[in-house]
Amino acid sequence: MITKLKHRGFHVCHKSLDDRYLEILDDILSCNVKNISIPMVFKSEPHTHVSLLDTRHGQFVLKIYSPRSKLAERFAKSLFCKNYNENLIHRIDEAESDGYTFPNNFYLLAERRVLTFAKVSIMLFEYIPGPELRDIPAITPAMKSEIKESMREMHAREIISGDAHGGNFILSKQGIRIIDLSGKPYSARRAVEDYVTANIRLGVPVETQSLWEKSLVARRMKRHLKIKHRKMQSRRSSIDNNQTAH
Ligand SMILES: Nc1ncnc2c1ncn2[C@@H]1O[C@H](COP(=O)(O)OP(=O)(O)O)[C@@H](O)[C@H]1O
Ligand SMILES: [Mg+2]
Repeated sequence: MITKLKHRGFHVCHKSLDDRYLEILDDILSCNVKNISIPMVFKSEPHTHVSLLDTRHGQFVLKIYSPRSKLAERFAKSLFCKNYNENLIHRIDEAESDGYTFPNNFYLLAERRVLTFAKVSIMLFEYIPGPELRDIPAITPAMKSEIKESMREMHAREIISGDAHGGNFILSKQGIRIIDLSGKPYSARRAVEDYVTANIRLGVPVETQSLWEKSLVARRMKRHLKIKHRKMQSRRSSIDNNQTAH
């Protein structure tokens, strides 16, 4: 279950276990270094910060997101579209209560909003130790079929990855887990796009059922090959230019 409340000016959704996630949020907002510390920073950019967070309730992944571009467009979109992160915390909670743990758990979402637009989002996720798939030398056929099956179940629970590349899969002791989910509402098109990305980036086999899915996969693959070809051409011409300059 997810509890929804207003807390210190933030719209908060958190797992209804007890108040531990609110206590951690308070420690973050007050920079209470007695209770929290950051042993590792995964990513630090003007719009996104991702780090490992030590708290009195254990380790978590802290993600802080604050969009810096296309603000008017995002604001307008927020008036008409479902809140992606709120959708995600509910979907993951439902999946977890069914015993399905492929996606990393999502414990707390706190958003500072202007109407429905989230200016700042603070998120607490389960920390999954282990290498990312992009860092391991070879992805075995068994791993590919595990990903395919886990993604099929994930889609059946209406959860979309939106970015199914090797940096968003972690090889944990309990098997392959997925992180960095988009929270976008489920659609058959988005599910097919996840398979196409996982196929291109990781070699996960794509299974298509209908003619419509087959044609969508073919179009996406064609687009991908076009982009790849264009990138290779521009790389080649920059090498040629460098050689002529010397
Ligand atoms: N739940 C997690 N467990 C372990 N590492 C994580 C987790 N979430 C994020 N990371 C690390 O932080 C990096 C960036 O986080 P991610 O959510 O993928 O952000 P981005 O949107 O920038 O790709 C990941 O590539 C991974 O190394
Ligand atoms: Mg990522």
